[in-house]
This record gives sequence, structure tokens and C-alpha cells, in this order.
Amino acid sequence: MKSAPFWTGTAGGVILAALTGFVILPLLGVFDTTATGKPNILDWWGHVNLENSLRWRAQDRNIPAAVDPDQGFEHYLSMCLHCHGGPEASRQEWANYMLPSPPKLWNEEILHMSDGELFSIISQGIRMTGMPAFGPTHTDEDIWNMVAFVRRLDQLTDQQKEQLHEASSRFGHGEKEDREHGH
Ligand code: HEC
Repeated sequence: MKSAPFWTGTAGGVILAALTGFVILPLLGVFDTTATGKPNILDWWGHVNLENSLRWRAQDRNIPAAVDPDQGFEHYLSMCLHCHGGPEASRQEWANYMLPSPPKLWNEEILHMSDGELFSIISQGIRMTGMPAFGPTHTDEDIWNMVAFVRRLDQLTDQQKEQLHEASSRFGHGEKEDREHGH
């Protein structure tokens, strides 16, 4: 049996660590919040928290039968391309200097996300990352069309690729390579 002072000491230690982590370090501004700085523990914390928050909060729903990915494509061109880019299409130059970096949406991680998780992210956004919530300004139907299109990003027609490329060339920064695009 451990003694009472042992437990009091342990509890005190835990409280002190929590207080330091959640209150004192932010009050002292210890963590670098510049988007030009290197990723640090805040980015790690945000990413791990995002994955688990989604697991708890994302709705358990599937893409409805009647979706219109072509309409999702139109939305993608006007609202997503400048941050996320597309296959063979670069994003806006300023999006290269966001931290966290808007990831490519045609990667392994996305393929493993459920329809409900994609819906939640696009509808409700991701706090403290720059990923906006599109639910307040769009219907559920619109959001599902976007989910359906994102699911098809790795199997676009040549014509769609051409359209994406053309739209991104209007961003006007040539063919410059993206900085660490994606995870
Ligand atoms: C202003 C920039 C910006 C715009 C516009 C934007 N996003 Fe994002 N998005 C982000 C950032 C930044 C993240 C990364 C969040 C992270 O890694 O924690 C993100 C993450 C995501 C993710 C999760 C990816 C992952 O691997 O975790 C999806 C899905 C997504 N965005 C879809 C969209 C769609 C669809 C649109 C258009 C309707 C859109 N985004 C518009 C910045 C943007």
C-alpha cells in the first residue's frame, strides 16, 4: 500500500504539470506561432487532437446515392483549389506559407477517411488551421457533392485536369514548386 503523502505528491505533480502545460507556457508565449517557423509541438498537438476529435464527433453517414460530383468540381474550383491545389495544378503562392500546410486531398490519408469524416471537415472546418467551415454557407447537398468530388480527385478526366490547371495558372506564380505540400 502506498502512503497518503505519496498520493498527495503524485496528484500535486500532475496538477503542476497540467498547470505548466496549459496555463504557464502559453502565458509566457513559449511556443512559436509564426507560420514561417518550424512545425513544433502545437502542430503535433493539433493534428493528434484533430484525428481523435473527428473520431468522436464526425457523423456516421455515407455519401447519398444522388450526388452530383460535377457540381462539387465547380465548388472545388472556386473554393478549394487556391489552398489545396489539384493533381498537376498548383495552389496560390500564399498557401505555400500556411502552417499547417493545406494537404493534397488525393493522398492515402484522405482515402482512408470515412465519408462522414470528410463531410464533417468540409461542413464544420478545422479550428486554428485556416480550414474554413463551408456548412454555414452551403446546403448539405452541396457539401455531399464536394465530398463526392474529393473522392474522385485521383481519377479525374483529362478535361477536368486541364480545367484545374487552367484555373491555377490564373493564380499567376508560374510553375514554382510547392513548399512541402501535404503531409
Ligand atoms: C484558406 C485555405 C483553405 C481553403 C480555402 C480550404 N481548405 Fe481544406 N484545409 C486547409 C488546411 C490548412 C487544412 C489542414 C488542417 C490540418 O492539417 O490540420 C485543410 C484540411 C482539409 C481536409 C482534411 C485533410 C486531412 O488530411 O486531414 C479536407 C478534406 C479539406 N481541407 C477539404 C477542403 C475542401 C473540400 C475545400 C473547399 C470546399 C477546402 N478544404 C478549402 C485549408 C483550406
